[in-house]
Amino acid sequence: MPHHPDRGPDPRPNPGPNPRPNRGRTRPVHPWPLRLMHWLNATAIVVMVMSGWQIYDASPLFGFSFPGRITLGEWLGGAIAWHLAAMWLLVLNGVAYLAWGSLNGHFRRRLRPPGPREVWRDTILALTFRLDHRHGVYNAVQRALYLAVIAFGVLAVASGLAVWKPVQLWFLSDLFGGFRASRYVHFFAMAGIVGFLAVHLMLVALVPKVLPPMITGGRLSEDAP
Ligand code: HEM
Repeated sequence: MPHHPDRGPDPRPNPGPNPRPNRGRTRPVHPWPLRLMHWLNATAIVVMVMSGWQIYDASPLFGFSFPGRITLGEWLGGAIAWHLAAMWLLVLNGVAYLAWGSLNGHFRRRLRPPGPREVWRDTILALTFRLDHRHGVYNAVQRALYLAVIAFGVLAVASGLAVWKPVQLWFLSDLFGGFRASRYVHFFAMAGIVGFLAVHLMLVALVPKVLPPMITGGRLSEDAP
């Protein structure tokens, strides 16, 4: 019977070849490109959302405006300058993340789309504070939230381009049902991202041990999934 490595050193005189050759070796929980892209994305999102609220205030779609102290850019022209500058960061960084995650298997390993049963089970466990968290493994609720925010991000960029260049990118504008409809889609995509961020920050606050590895990388055994 093979000796289980978690039971300490093997007492037999000749235990044979090491059944787990990677034992003792480690790798980061979050590799540096992921951490860099995550924080660049977070910066771009905050600038996009706050300057977007200022742009919205110049011509509100609904019966409310965003208070000046939570907007960026001071006035319409200033806010558009912030919005377009951060757009380049968001888009280039987002394309890099999607390429990196698909080419090296990150999405396949860590962001497998969960089924509704899994999401339901993990939601109940999370709400009753019984959901276990292992570094480097995302539960079904996390995976559903991450995939949703990636989709909202793509929708926000596509509808934003339709609002920005409705003539040159008429096919995008048409896709969303015209200029005005594109504005509504853009607004709801923003609301989805802000809603995600509220839940994301709450989950990080509930399980604070997940934050340091997203900053420093952390260490995970090479044998871990
Ligand atoms: C601004 C404050 C933010 C903090 C403190 C934060 C924190 C974190 C932490 C700690 C993780 C790792 C979770 C774990 O290991 O279980 C994570 C992952 C993630 N966060 Fe954030 N985050 C922030 C903003 C954002 C924003 C604005 C977005 C997108 C709109 C975002 C999207 C994601 C995604 C998609 C992942 C999974 C990444 C992957 O593995 O591919 N985060 N975040």
